Amino acid sequence: MSQSLTIRRPDDWHLHLRDGAMLQAVLPETARHFARAIIMPNLVPPVVTGTDAAAYRDRILAALPDGMVFEPLMTLYLTEDTDREDVAAAHASGLIKAVKLYPAGATTNSASGVRDFDKVRGVLERMAEIGLPLCVHGEVTDAEIDIFDREAVFIDRVLDPIRRDTPGLRVVMEHITTSNAVDYVKANAQDLGATITTHHLIINRNHILVGGIKPHYYCLPVAKREEHRLALRAAATSGDPRFFLGTDSAPHTDPLKESACGCAGCFTATNTMSLLAHVFEQEGALDKLEGFASRNGPGFYGLPVNQDSLTLTKGEVVRYPDKIDTGDGPVTVFDPGFEVHWHVTT
Ligand code: NCD
Ligand code: ZN
Repeated sequence: MSQSLTIRRPDDWHLHLRDGAMLQAVLPETARHFARAIIMPNLVPPVVTGTDAAAYRDRILAALPDGMVFEPLMTLYLTEDTDREDVAAAHASGLIKAVKLYPAGATTNSASGVRDFDKVRGVLERMAEIGLPLCVHGEVTDAEIDIFDREAVFIDRVLDPIRRDTPGLRVVMEHITTSNAVDYVKANAQDLGATITTHHLIINRNHILVGGIKPHYYCLPVAKREEHRLALRAAATSGDPRFFLGTDSAPHTDPLKESACGCAGCFTATNTMSLLAHVFEQEGALDKLEGFASRNGPGFYGLPVNQDSLTLTKGEVVRYPDKIDTGDGPVTVFDPGFEVHWHVTT
């Protein structure tokens, strides 16, 4: 008898859709399985104002193929010049669901991010007042801090001070990669959640570096030691409502990945739900997948759970494309390195 699992339709609480030809190609990969996604604002130039976000939302909806239903949940990119009243107005109108903090230089297209955290204090205080969450790329950028320590150092030096200075600010620690981040979330009962990617549940740093460098496994924050991957798996499958799915699916074309200076980002939109079913089954926690992918995120953001459902059925090996074609060039789909048997059937 084939095994199957029906869950409320999932959402992706951290997604890169890009723009133009890339947007056109990657949007259906997400919309096929996900009802909504928090859309990252790190375009070039970034999505900074309410006007920028409205225009980007319209471009996303225009790129959606006929017959597909998908709701982009827009965000603004926090800069040192962000106008707190523009943020409040974009929130009040329902246009944006979060503001994104990139420490300047932390990752792809983050040059306009924040250097001096005192300069954004006013915006953060306003966000706390109106209940608008801050999504945080949690890595310091100091040259002397080892890249594998940058998340843990960020928690102590930046995140904890910001949260203490701004009572009531709701924060999502995004794409967490360490047991330090898991522990920090668990120790803070209020106003704090974390997203976990599919790929960080599957790879550790050996997968990137042993037996030859694997550019398609390189993303930021970079995958850490095995003990951290296991801590992420435990958190994701625990049923704790503070942990939820944010794929951080981040397409870059193959020439940009397979380069002497390759871009950071794993493209997982296409096969995420099959991979998650595999991971949750391995952990004996298939009953927790719905919470992680479909319920905990809306719970944190104060949004309704999706009404419709998604069914996964276990069977033959799943075949998905190695790459998808985009007008900008091919994008490699994340390869978990093992066979997957969970098909999304409806
Ligand atoms: C993201 C991208 O390519 O925009 N890359 C990544 O490795 N995750 C940026 C980000 O979320 O850090
Ligand atoms: Zn991202």
